[in-house]
Amino acid sequence: MDRPEAQGPPIPGRIVLSSTQIERRVHELAQEIGTAYSPDTELLVLGLLKGSFIFLADLVRQIPLPTQVDFMVASSYGNATTSSGDVQLLYKPGMSIKGRDILLVEDIVDSGNTLAQLLPLLEEQGVASIETCVLLHKRIANLGEYEPKWTGFDSPPGFLAGYGLDYAEKYRALPHIVDLGRPEDLENKNDQ
Ligand code: PRP
Repeated sequence: MDRPEAQGPPIPGRIVLSSTQIERRVHELAQEIGTAYSPDTELLVLGLLKGSFIFLADLVRQIPLPTQVDFMVASSYGNATTSSGDVQLLYKPGMSIKGRDILLVEDIVDSGNTLAQLLPLLEEQGVASIETCVLLHKRIANLGEYEPKWTGFDSPPGFLAGYGLDYAEKYRALPHIVDLGRPEDLENKNDQ
Protein backbone atom coordinates (compact mmCIF):
# COMPACT_ATOMS: atom_id res chain seq x y z
CA MET A 1 0.00 0.00 0.00
CA ASP A 2 1.28 3.46 -0.89
CA ARG A 3 2.06 5.65 2.09
CA PRO A 4 1.53 9.37 1.96
CA GLU A 5 5.10 10.67 1.83
CA ALA A 6 4.01 14.19 2.67
CA GLN A 7 2.64 13.61 6.17
CA GLY A 8 4.49 15.19 9.07
CA PRO A 9 7.20 17.83 8.82
CA PRO A 10 8.41 19.06 5.42
CA ILE A 11 10.63 16.57 3.62
CA PRO A 12 14.25 17.67 3.36
CA GLY A 13 15.88 17.19 -0.03
CA ARG A 14 14.39 15.11 -2.85
CA ILE A 15 12.96 11.60 -2.51
CA VAL A 16 15.13 9.14 -4.45
CA LEU A 17 13.64 5.90 -3.09
CA SER A 18 10.05 5.88 -1.88
CA SER A 19 8.83 3.85 1.06
CA THR A 20 6.90 1.65 -1.38
CA GLN A 21 10.00 0.92 -3.48
CA ILE A 22 11.95 0.09 -0.33
CA GLU A 23 9.16 -2.09 1.07
CA ARG A 24 8.95 -4.15 -2.14
CA ARG A 25 12.70 -4.63 -2.36
CA VAL A 26 13.02 -5.60 1.31
CA HIS A 27 10.36 -8.25 0.76
CA GLU A 28 12.26 -9.64 -2.25
CA LEU A 29 15.55 -9.69 -0.34
CA ALA A 30 13.96 -11.53 2.58
CA GLN A 31 12.56 -14.20 0.25
CA GLU A 32 15.94 -14.60 -1.50
CA ILE A 33 17.69 -14.93 1.85
CA GLY A 34 15.11 -17.47 2.96
CA THR A 35 15.74 -19.72 -0.01
CA ALA A 36 19.55 -19.54 0.33
CA TYR A 37 19.60 -21.48 3.62
CA SER A 38 18.13 -24.80 4.67
CA PRO A 39 14.76 -24.24 6.40
CA ASP A 40 16.03 -25.32 9.81
CA THR A 41 18.92 -22.80 9.83
CA GLU A 42 18.75 -20.49 12.81
CA LEU A 43 20.24 -17.38 11.27
CA LEU A 44 22.04 -14.88 13.49
CA VAL A 45 21.26 -11.50 11.97
CA LEU A 46 23.87 -8.93 12.98
CA GLY A 47 23.03 -5.29 12.46
CA LEU A 48 25.59 -2.54 12.26
CA LEU A 49 24.28 0.39 14.24
CA LYS A 50 23.02 2.81 13.84
CA GLY A 51 22.30 3.04 10.13
CA SER A 52 20.90 -0.47 9.70
CA PHE A 53 18.29 -0.44 12.47
CA ILE A 54 15.21 0.23 10.36
CA PHE A 55 16.30 -1.93 7.42
CA LEU A 56 17.12 -4.80 9.77
CA ALA A 57 13.80 -4.50 11.60
CA ASP A 58 11.85 -4.64 8.33
CA LEU A 59 14.03 -7.37 6.82
CA VAL A 60 14.13 -9.74 9.78
CA ARG A 61 10.35 -9.77 10.11
CA GLN A 62 10.08 -11.11 6.58
CA ILE A 63 12.87 -13.66 6.43
CA PRO A 64 11.11 -17.05 6.41
CA LEU A 65 13.62 -18.68 8.76
CA PRO A 66 14.10 -18.79 12.52
CA THR A 67 16.35 -15.86 13.37
CA GLN A 68 18.19 -14.33 16.29
CA VAL A 69 19.28 -10.70 16.27
CA ASP A 70 22.27 -8.87 17.69
CA PHE A 71 23.99 -5.59 16.99
CA MET A 72 27.42 -4.01 16.66
CA VAL A 73 28.61 -0.45 16.50
CA ALA A 74 31.41 0.26 14.05
CA SER A 75 31.74 3.94 13.52
CA SER A 76 33.77 5.48 10.73
CA TYR A 77 32.01 8.74 9.88
CA GLY A 78 31.07 10.51 13.10
CA ASN A 79 29.37 13.71 12.04
CA ALA A 80 31.55 14.20 8.99
CA THR A 81 30.33 13.50 5.48
CA THR A 82 33.35 11.62 4.18
CA SER A 83 34.84 8.38 5.44
CA SER A 84 37.91 8.68 7.64
CA GLY A 85 39.00 5.16 6.66
CA ASP A 86 39.49 4.17 10.30
CA VAL A 87 36.79 1.76 11.42
CA GLN A 88 36.35 1.43 15.16
CA LEU A 89 34.43 -1.46 16.72
CA LEU A 90 32.83 0.34 19.63
CA TYR A 91 30.39 -2.41 20.60
CA LYS A 92 30.66 -6.13 19.82
CA PRO A 93 27.81 -8.63 19.54
CA GLY A 94 26.67 -9.74 22.98
CA MET A 95 26.29 -13.39 21.96
CA SER A 96 28.95 -15.76 20.67
CA ILE A 97 29.12 -15.96 16.89
CA LYS A 98 31.31 -19.08 16.84
CA GLY A 99 29.76 -21.83 14.70
CA ARG A 100 26.83 -19.60 13.72
CA ASP A 101 25.39 -18.75 10.32
CA ILE A 102 25.70 -14.97 10.27
CA LEU A 103 23.84 -12.47 8.13
CA LEU A 104 25.47 -9.06 8.49
CA VAL A 105 23.04 -6.25 7.71
CA GLU A 106 24.31 -2.84 6.59
CA ASP A 107 22.51 0.25 5.37
CA ILE A 108 25.08 1.42 2.81
CA VAL A 109 28.42 0.49 1.29
CA ASP A 110 30.26 3.69 0.46
CA SER A 111 34.07 3.40 0.46
CA GLY A 112 33.73 -0.23 1.58
CA ASN A 113 36.10 0.33 4.53
CA THR A 114 33.60 -0.78 7.12
CA LEU A 115 32.86 -4.14 5.50
CA ALA A 116 36.47 -4.74 4.44
CA GLN A 117 37.66 -4.27 8.01
CA LEU A 118 34.77 -5.82 9.87
CA LEU A 119 34.17 -9.04 7.94
CA PRO A 120 37.67 -10.49 8.58
CA LEU A 121 37.25 -9.72 12.31
CA LEU A 122 34.00 -11.66 12.39
CA GLU A 123 35.36 -14.53 10.28
CA GLU A 124 38.27 -14.93 12.69
CA GLN A 125 35.82 -15.90 15.39
CA GLY A 126 35.05 -19.22 13.70
CA VAL A 127 31.63 -18.54 12.20
CA ALA A 128 29.97 -21.38 10.25
CA SER A 129 29.12 -18.95 7.45
CA ILE A 130 28.88 -15.22 6.96
CA GLU A 131 27.03 -13.29 4.25
CA THR A 132 26.15 -9.63 3.96
CA CYS A 133 22.93 -7.90 2.98
CA VAL A 134 23.14 -4.16 2.26
CA LEU A 135 20.33 -1.85 1.32
CA LEU A 136 22.44 0.52 -0.78
CA HIS A 137 25.75 0.05 -2.60
CA LYS A 138 27.54 3.02 -4.07
CA ARG A 139 29.58 0.72 -6.36
CA ILE A 140 32.75 2.67 -5.61
CA ALA A 141 34.37 -0.11 -3.62
CA ASN A 142 35.72 -3.34 -5.02
CA LEU A 143 35.24 -5.63 -2.07
CA GLY A 144 36.34 -8.85 -3.76
CA GLU A 145 35.55 -11.79 -1.47
CA TYR A 146 33.70 -9.41 0.88
CA GLU A 147 31.23 -8.23 -1.76
CA PRO A 148 27.70 -8.38 -0.27
CA LYS A 149 25.67 -11.38 -1.41
CA TRP A 150 22.48 -9.31 -1.33
CA THR A 151 22.10 -5.64 -2.32
CA GLY A 152 18.83 -3.75 -2.24
CA PHE A 153 19.68 -0.97 -4.67
CA ASP A 154 22.68 0.47 -6.47
CA SER A 155 22.87 3.73 -4.58
CA PRO A 156 21.56 6.81 -6.32
CA PRO A 157 24.18 9.58 -6.37
CA GLY A 158 24.00 12.38 -3.83
CA PHE A 159 24.10 12.76 -0.10
CA LEU A 160 21.49 10.33 1.15
CA ALA A 161 19.47 10.26 4.36
CA GLY A 162 16.38 8.53 5.67
CA TYR A 163 15.33 4.93 6.41
CA GLY A 164 18.11 4.72 8.99
CA LEU A 165 20.70 6.89 7.23
CA ASP A 166 21.48 10.18 8.90
CA TYR A 167 22.95 13.54 8.35
CA ALA A 168 24.41 14.75 11.68
CA GLU A 169 22.05 12.28 13.43
CA LYS A 170 18.99 13.77 11.73
CA TYR A 171 16.49 12.22 9.31
CA ARG A 172 17.01 8.56 10.28
CA ALA A 173 13.27 8.12 10.89
CA LEU A 174 12.15 9.18 7.41
CA PRO A 175 10.27 6.28 5.75
CA HIS A 176 11.91 7.03 2.39
CA ILE A 177 15.44 7.92 1.25
CA VAL A 178 16.19 11.47 0.22
CA ASP A 179 19.06 13.17 -1.54
CA LEU A 180 19.92 16.14 0.66
CA GLY A 181 21.94 17.79 -2.08
CA ARG A 182 24.99 19.58 -0.78
CA PRO A 183 25.12 19.19 3.03
CA GLU A 184 26.78 22.60 3.36
CA ASP A 185 23.72 24.21 1.72
CA LEU A 186 21.51 22.38 4.19
CA GLU A 187 23.56 23.67 7.11
CA ASN A 188 23.34 27.20 5.78
CA LYS A 189 19.57 26.80 5.47
CA ASN A 190 19.33 25.52 9.06
CA ASP A 191 21.40 28.47 10.29
CA GLN A 192 18.99 31.01 8.85
C1 PRP B 1 28.02 4.63 7.75
C2 PRP B 1 27.08 3.57 7.21
C3 PRP B 1 27.97 2.38 7.03
C4 PRP B 1 29.31 2.98 6.71
C5 PRP B 1 29.56 2.87 5.23
O1 PRP B 1 28.12 4.44 9.12
O2 PRP B 1 26.03 3.33 8.12
O3 PRP B 1 28.07 1.61 8.22
O4 PRP B 1 29.26 4.34 7.12
O5 PRP B 1 30.71 3.57 4.85
P1 PRP B 1 32.01 2.88 4.22
O6 PRP B 1 31.57 1.87 3.20
O7 PRP B 1 32.72 4.07 3.60
O8 PRP B 1 32.80 2.29 5.34
P2 PRP B 1 28.47 5.58 10.16
O9 PRP B 1 29.87 5.38 10.64
O10 PRP B 1 28.13 6.92 9.57
O11 PRP B 1 27.56 5.31 11.40
P3 PRP B 1 25.96 5.18 11.51
O12 PRP B 1 25.59 3.84 10.92
O13 PRP B 1 25.74 5.26 12.97
O14 PRP B 1 25.31 6.33 10.76
